[in-house]
Amino acid sequence: MSARILDGKAIAEQVREQIARDAAALIAQGTQPCLAVILVGNDPASSVYVRNKVAGCEKAGFRSLKFEYAADAEPQVVLDKIAELNADASVHGILVQLPLPPQFDEDAVLEAIDPDKDVDGFHAVNVGRLLQGREGFYPCTPWGVIKMLEVGGVEIQGKDAVVIGRSNIVGKPMAVMLLARGATVTVCHSKTKDLAGHVRRADIVIAAVGRPNFVTGDMLKPGAVVIDVGINRLPSGKLCGDVEFASAAEVASLITPVPGGVGPMTITMLLGNTLLSAQRAAK
Ligand code: GUN
Repeated sequence: MSARILDGKAIAEQVREQIARDAAALIAQGTQPCLAVILVGNDPASSVYVRNKVAGCEKAGFRSLKFEYAADAEPQVVLDKIAELNADASVHGILVQLPLPPQFDEDAVLEAIDPDKDVDGFHAVNVGRLLQGREGFYPCTPWGVIKMLEVGGVEIQGKDAVVIGRSNIVGKPMAVMLLARGATVTVCHSKTKDLAGHVRRADIVIAAVGRPNFVTGDMLKPGAVVIDVGINRLPSGKLCGDVEFASAAEVASLITPVPGGVGPMTITMLLGNTLLSAQRAAK
């Protein structure tokens, strides 16, 4: 194996220590960062994510509020709660865990959140701000990838980057963030004709397709930087990414593992966004 491993767990730990220090300074001035999390239904993965988000808040010295609703909840009840949290000056971040049950209009729920408390960065106003390169909240997973590239000393400007996946949560914002930093960006997806050909030309590959071991070493340019956003569970129960780690690590210069790569960065950036919101509110 020749690639250097970019340790997301260690980077996340470092960033969280700084967030906790900044939170303590803000608390000393009378403002405690507060994140409100809304969970509807009983999807086991969502419950785990929400538990980890609340635990992350506690560890960083933040206040957290958790509101849970049954899977058959009336959407209006959730919209009323969002309105109440929007109006509460002690709440700096509001997050609705996705996916929502089918009776919900997900876009309408996200749009109900005050964009200045939308720490997930999913509100159309924040998506527009990101696209225009303005201050706002940026989606946590791609934002975490950028942080990892920075810590890893990866030059983005002038590089050919390929993003595999075009979701609103990862692929699209990832492409915009790389573009803003001067990369030449190609977004590949399920309809792309020669995906391997695109990947082979890339200096930076971001895999966010949700298919186990989709990117293999023979598809990579020697020395490429490979960031694996995928978290897939194999029938054996084992977690694996979108990149076949062993073969990719033979060819890449830098690679993220799964688990322990991008995963730990997502909640870290959520805490960062919540802190930022609290700092803005305290000004
Ligand atoms: N579901 C999967 N990822 C996310 C995320 O980053 N935020 C929210 N709110 N829901 C999700």
